[in-house]
Amino acid sequence: MRIVLGVGGGIAAYKVASLLRLFTEAGHHVTVIPTEASTRFVGTATWEALSGNPVSNSVFDDVHQVNHVRLGHEADLVVVAPATADLLSKAAAGQAGDLLTNTLLMASGPVLFAPAMHTEMWQHAATRANVETLRSRGVAVLEPASGRLTGSDSGPGRLPEPEDIFAAAMALMHGDTDIALPLAGRTVTISAGGTREPLDPVRFLGNRSSGKQGVALAVAARNAGATVRLLAAHMEVPAPPGVETVSVETALQLREAALAAAADSDVVIMSAAVADFRPAEISGTKIKKRDDTADPVISLVRNPDILQELVELRNQGPEREDQLIVGFAAETGDEQGGVLAYAQAKLQRKGCDLLVVNHVGADKVFGQDTNAVVILSRSGSEPQEAAGTKTEVAAAVIRRIGCELNHVPHRA
Ligand code: CTP
Repeated sequence: MRIVLGVGGGIAAYKVASLLRLFTEAGHHVTVIPTEASTRFVGTATWEALSGNPVSNSVFDDVHQVNHVRLGHEADLVVVAPATADLLSKAAAGQAGDLLTNTLLMASGPVLFAPAMHTEMWQHAATRANVETLRSRGVAVLEPASGRLTGSDSGPGRLPEPEDIFAAAMALMHGDTDIALPLAGRTVTISAGGTREPLDPVRFLGNRSSGKQGVALAVAARNAGATVRLLAAHMEVPAPPGVETVSVETALQLREAALAAAADSDVVIMSAAVADFRPAEISGTKIKKRDDTADPVISLVRNPDILQELVELRNQGPEREDQLIVGFAAETGDEQGGVLAYAQAKLQRKGCDLLVVNHVGADKVFGQDTNAVVILSRSGSEPQEAAGTKTEVAAAVIRRIGCELNHVPHRA
């Protein structure tokens, strides 16, 4: 296969030598196009020696071969690593000032960007918008790895390991966009945290949900290439960067936000702990204790079941028939039934496609950093277990969602 390897002007350029080795050792014909800036980090001699091909980034070299048209046109795959903020911006804007950007405009096969930059640059609204633009055009943009950056700072922005870029590139070249970024081009709405139902201006009925699992899901979905909308009820952790966040307090506010967001979402994940009841009346002033009146009694009324309503709306028309709806169930089990029996009944009752079941005990799940779940499917496939940190559980749930959306069999 013919691969064009664009090298951006970042310190991580030196790691791309290993990536080039992986490509050539796998028998691919690689043409390296380094940007001018990148040659200050790694010289063209290195690329020529390792690829066995001449290297240039000028549209005026070998003009008779019309390289600025030919290379992109002939390539089975174009990989850009490290993809700097500058290169992402130029690619998103369709600029064509050098051989690499010309090649990107001419590429008729898959294109993969492996970004590397400082965390602030990666998280900047301009870069986010450029990444979103590229992904919406079907370009695969990997998430950078997290860890030590050039200086003493660390965070997301490291070039993914050459082996990971190689694996994503091979998957992409074989048309397997699912492996590279299973949720690319998808919009995923995720509710997280716990709703709070006010009693008076200072008090509320709430629950123990910390929002950690919902936030981990949002990060995993974002890393899988999705556009993520996070509907955040009360959370003990901050909303992650790179997701659109809507803050809500009550179940009714969450319902409104969820119905609006679901209208054009491919996936809706209801991981929020939604209060089933709210006080029938909210006092406009603080409820005072008084010796001359009886102690107050709080009457509760039922909140709408948002998950069930989302399923009903989805089932109403053909527009959303492919929408995947995922519920969460926190169960303790009791003398009448075990956790899984209750969860199976809940799955049938709510009609969602997948139900992620937590076993809740006094010290389990809420606020903890680890979790153990069973994923039940309405299609009747075997229950799938996932356990580990909430990040690992989130990755397993998002992988499973990717399999469902892309009709890929999952491994239980
Ligand atoms: N849920 C919802 N709206 C509600 C209550 C719950 O959308 N009013 C969603 C939750 O976000 C979760 C799923 O329904 O995805 C199951 O929540 P859970 O509290 O376990 O179930 P309940 O409906 O409260 O059922 P039960 O009272 O039998 O436990």
